[in-house]
Amino acid sequence: MQNKNIKENSKLYPDIINSVKSDENAFKKFIAISSDGEIVKLLQKLGRFEDAILQVELLKLLKNSNAKIRALALKNLAKLGDVNLLSSFMNIALNDKSTDVRREAASAVGRLRSKTAKKSLIKLLDDKDPKVIQQAIRGLLVFKHDKDVKLVLLKMKSHPNDQIQDLINGFDEKEKKSNRLVKKNSDIFHNVVVNADTNVVMKLMPDEVIDLTFTSPPYYNARDYSIYSSYGEYLDFLREVFNNLLRITREGRFLVVNSSPVIVPRVSRAHASRRYPIPFDLHGILVQNGWEFIDDIIWVKPEASAKNRNAGFLQNRKPLAYKPNSISEMLMVYRKKTDKLIDWNIRQYPKEIVQKSLVKDGYETSNIWYVDPTFSKKHSAVFPKELCKKVIEYYSFIGDLVFDPFAGSGTLGQVAIECNRKFFLTEVDKNYFSSIKSLFTTPNLFQSDFDVAFFNQKSFRDRIDKNK
Ligand SMILES: C[S@@+](CC[C@H](N)C(=O)[O-])C[C@H]1O[C@@H](n2cnc3c(N)ncnc32)[C@H](O)[C@@H]1O
Repeated sequence: MQNKNIKENSKLYPDIINSVKSDENAFKKFIAISSDGEIVKLLQKLGRFEDAILQVELLKLLKNSNAKIRALALKNLAKLGDVNLLSSFMNIALNDKSTDVRREAASAVGRLRSKTAKKSLIKLLDDKDPKVIQQAIRGLLVFKHDKDVKLVLLKMKSHPNDQIQDLINGFDEKEKKSNRLVKKNSDIFHNVVVNADTNVVMKLMPDEVIDLTFTSPPYYNARDYSIYSSYGEYLDFLREVFNNLLRITREGRFLVVNSSPVIVPRVSRAHASRRYPIPFDLHGILVQNGWEFIDDIIWVKPEASAKNRNAGFLQNRKPLAYKPNSISEMLMVYRKKTDKLIDWNIRQYPKEIVQKSLVKDGYETSNIWYVDPTFSKKHSAVFPKELCKKVIEYYSFIGDLVFDPFAGSGTLGQVAIECNRKFFLTEVDKNYFSSIKSLFTTPNLFQSDFDVAFFNQKSFRDRIDKNK
């Protein structure tokens, strides 16, 4: 092929590609006379080719000054799956100054899927760039059943980079799961209320039975039902709750935590009241414990419904004494960590269920939700039904099991039924438990054609034992 032709025919790209890839000299000439951009284009579109023809020329391109060209040459060479190329790939993987090129080289080594490449991949785990390491890990996962490789991979759990930890934990979880029978049947927890400490109850439950949790944990020392000897003790208690919750939640399913900073009132006028940033502290605990952060939703209430904090400021307007009225709470949305996409969770359901569960028009389009609070004589912090409905409809399917570990008045259970879901509730306080009982048993209070089972700690344990 004439050089002139190559240039003139640059619009007939498929033709040029076909001719250069079947003719070493044409390829050579193209490289010699073309701009970097044209070479990049050619390498991107090269497709399959015969190794004998282009291998030598592609190897030469590994020395090109343009990093993109070096990376693309590697990508094409990797298609050959030729173990003889291992040392060339490794040379680049260890020495190239561009991390993009080193990543491509690590991927090329992995694509060889050869036992000979195992040691080389292990060497690449020392790279500084986490992406190079991730490529090496992917390559090594092919040999995850080899004892030595498994050991090396598990050691990477303590790597400081979170994406690397995720990759290893995902592999480790899968391994554990394949060795363990996961009890999928959650029927015995359908429409059940337990009067006991939620941590005790959760510890009795099998793995992976809950589809969605929406809860508002007790506020630190702001209400009678939530007295802890220190803020640290309070956070430790919730750490245990979220840990237990993680185990009993199905893979990839959601946890929505409603919380807001609280003020613990001052002991006298000489002291300041203290404000505790609960949502910010909970976030760290949740993500360290296997929950993946998904969204922050702000629940906004009318200002008239909020406690007035700025009376003092209103009179004298002195800077630093400014205190806005709190009219928002957080809904922090998390997903049980998994390497599966949301689509994987959706595919677990029959088409009719997905169809019936579709969210109707009028849904919230932003993360600011204006919802009026609900005041109740029976409980000082009840969920508005509208809030429960949104969370249930956006984060679960019809028939799912929805859990509130801190059930209070039991509103979540009531809305779960109205949304054709099942509920599971735990509440430690006897009086609140009685209110929940009357909610589901008093005729006309909440019309129902379903059975609700009520337990204390002992009877719940017996029920679990019977089902073992
Ligand atoms: C903020 S309120 C939740 C109110 C609830 N969202 C509603 O709609 O009524 C927290 C509730 O958690 C309960 N609680 C506190 N510690 C608990 C524990 N260890 N186990 C179960 N419930 C607990 C309290 O009695 C209180 O009713």
